[in-house]
Amino acid sequence: MSISRRQLLMGGAGLAGLAGLGAGVGQWLQRPSLDPRYAYQLSAAPLDLELVPGFITQALGYGGQAPGQLLRAKQGERLRVRFTNQLEQATTIHWHGIRLPIEMDGVPYVSQLPMLPGETFDYDFVVPDAGSYWYHPHKASGEQLGRGLVGPLIVDEAEPTEFQHERVLVLKNWHIDEQGAFTDFSVPREAARGGTRGRLSTVNGQHLPSIDLPAGEIVRLRVLNLDNTVTYRLKLAGADSRIYALDGNPIVPVPFKEYWLGPGMRIDLAVRVPQNGAAVVLRDGLFRLADFVVQGSSTALVQAPWPRALPANPVAEPDLQRAERLTFNFEWVGGLSKSAGKTGDFSFWQVNGVAWDGNDRSCLDRPAARLRLGQSYIFEMRNLSQYQHPIHIHGMTFKVLSSNRKAITPYFTDTYLLGRNESAKVALVADNPGLWMFHCHVIDHMETGLMTAIEVA
Ligand code: C2O
Ligand code: CU
Ligand code: CU
Repeated sequence: MSISRRQLLMGGAGLAGLAGLGAGVGQWLQRPSLDPRYAYQLSAAPLDLELVPGFITQALGYGGQAPGQLLRAKQGERLRVRFTNQLEQATTIHWHGIRLPIEMDGVPYVSQLPMLPGETFDYDFVVPDAGSYWYHPHKASGEQLGRGLVGPLIVDEAEPTEFQHERVLVLKNWHIDEQGAFTDFSVPREAARGGTRGRLSTVNGQHLPSIDLPAGEIVRLRVLNLDNTVTYRLKLAGADSRIYALDGNPIVPVPFKEYWLGPGMRIDLAVRVPQNGAAVVLRDGLFRLADFVVQGSSTALVQAPWPRALPANPVAEPDLQRAERLTFNFEWVGGLSKSAGKTGDFSFWQVNGVAWDGNDRSCLDRPAARLRLGQSYIFEMRNLSQYQHPIHIHGMTFKVLSSNRKAITPYFTDTYLLGRNESAKVALVADNPGLWMFHCHVIDHMETGLMTAIEVA
């Protein structure tokens, strides 16, 4: 197994960033007030994995790992990543959920030119919000994410929280066959439906791993769905747990029973680890995703109280009285627009009657909406299809207000899982100037039309 599970699981893995820094970047590190824990040298490169015992999978990795190296940042400080493309194809990095300047957003032709093989780019931005985030390319996404270019980005709270222990769990299914060879990342008949699923489920790059938990302690479990397609129906059996944050943003803690975690979404749980060897299992519906192994024994006689709620992120509160209303229809359009065989040549999905074409840069001149800087907006997001869509916005965080399908306690997020035929209202303050992508995070929905842009100026 070429993946270091420990590196991903250990809370202190951010320190590993230092190990990769060569002599040549010394000056880069010497800018004033730079905390070297939050400076990284990262590359994307081909990586052989053994996902199926005895077989090689020709994956792609960040920092020599797939899923990619865990990056850490501290809320309110800069994160700096000197990124080198060692792939044989162009790429970029997008920082999912981070409210950053458009130049750092990693969208080709909007934020930067595609990075050609061998090129280096310095990503350098302040991270305003604490929580569980992630990073991935925004170029040839089906293939690049599918082959492993997805990595966790953890932003530590500006002030320490009451959590003493943490585990980071990255969920990903791999599109591989029994010999570990990649199968199609997108099949047209699947792209037109729920999306093309990989068949091997993994947590931190391992199928059904065993993960240590300290007996009797409370652990912050960060679960990140970095899969192209799959919505996991998450459950945790064998331990008492509470939800502390959704998609990076704190909520008032509530008991955790079950949660539908769509592609791109994250959930932070507090788990009360049993005192002894009781079986604790992470499940996707009826399927096991990971087993937890309770280590050691606790001498504590009384149960520790649950940690205090996490502090809210500094996201602007939308002014609902004065908000302007916009409607976004996400819909399925039957039929194939073009005759060729690749999924990229098909369009099955539209936002407000327009199918986004990733190969046509003129789409960038036709955003679905133009928002005025500083103004509040309410988006009514309507899913006119039979499949669910995790709808994601770049550059800003919206507040989920209501749904016609379920009771909502309003919360902030960057990705909302819009159920079949659901309409939901979300609100935001258009406080970040730029051209921001707004799309479904089922990658083959996105690549067959379910994407648009929103301009804030
Ligand atoms: Cu994870 Cu366009 O984003
Ligand atoms: Cu994003
Ligand atoms: Cu979708």
